[in-house]
Amino acid sequence: MTTKDKVLEKLVKNKGKHVSGEQLASELSVSRTAIWKHIKVLKDEGYMIDSSTHIGYSLNDTPDALTPGEIKAGLKTKVFGKDIKYFKETESTNIIAREIATSVNEGTIVIAELQTAGRGRLGHKWISPEGGIWLSIILKPGIEPVYAPRITLLAGVSVAKTMQDLGLPAKIKWPNDIIINGKKVSGILTEIGAEVDVIDYLIVGIGIDANVDTGAFPGEFRDYSTSLEKEVGHKINRVEFVQKLLEEFESLYMKFKEDGFSHILEEWRNMSATIGQWVKITAQARTIYGEAIGVDNEGALIVETAEGHLEKIVAGNCEHMRRT
Ligand code: BTN
Repeated sequence: MTTKDKVLEKLVKNKGKHVSGEQLASELSVSRTAIWKHIKVLKDEGYMIDSSTHIGYSLNDTPDALTPGEIKAGLKTKVFGKDIKYFKETESTNIIAREIATSVNEGTIVIAELQTAGRGRLGHKWISPEGGIWLSIILKPGIEPVYAPRITLLAGVSVAKTMQDLGLPAKIKWPNDIIINGKKVSGILTEIGAEVDVIDYLIVGIGIDANVDTGAFPGEFRDYSTSLEKEVGHKINRVEFVQKLLEEFESLYMKFKEDGFSHILEEWRNMSATIGQWVKITAQARTIYGEAIGVDNEGALIVETAEGHLEKIVAGNCEHMRRT
């Protein structure tokens, strides 16, 4: 955490109250001039800070930004989000995460206000304007590559649960689209760096259309997308959402490491919008129609075709169809 982030953290904790430059300087073991310089940078970033010669500094208002100081203030996690790399704009948080993955600790987050080349599953692009939540978490679970999909399912459960806590009927469309009232509000792209028998690192990229005008998306995306703002009826507090998501994700991840995958799979099944649906699966060169009847221990979708065959789908695109 940089000194600037620490200054901000103290101001956020004392929001509306003055904290003297002397107190900040002594608590952070830097000079009062250094504190003054950090305050100036924070003001330039949009923080409304009142500076008064005798009583010190008081934070009156914060920009609507996902800065490390904002997220860390009051974050109740042990590992997730202890190190946050913040970008106002970047190509893709997954790209940055991949570049730094081997040199940072597990739980490091890369987060951006805007992505210029956001990446989706199956080589699709991911529209990432301001107002959304675009973040990547670096994990080092020490498991075999074949089990990586379990972490993606776990991430999907965390995102859906965080939305349910806002009172929204969020469900998971296989493998990891989060949908509300049939429209997509979030997607997850997991990428791994691995040896033959063990994962070195895993990057879980989560995109959430939080306060995003999905009505301005190009046609094919517009029809299938919604935003948290639209579903809740007002803008959501993105900082609080990210904090809750990190707390939920960490707690499930720790449970997974201690007790295994079965109860997470159980939760995934309970939140599934796909099981029981008639689906069209496009996987490599094949298209399969049938009823989604379950998900196995590795997260593969089990589909019963019209001819009565059971197909196990490990990866692919899934569309929910009307039963004819
Ligand atoms: C999908 O196609 O459903 C997955 C979308 C994943 C988007 C997120 S946004 C943060 C991270 N950075 C990226 O470029 N992609 C993921």
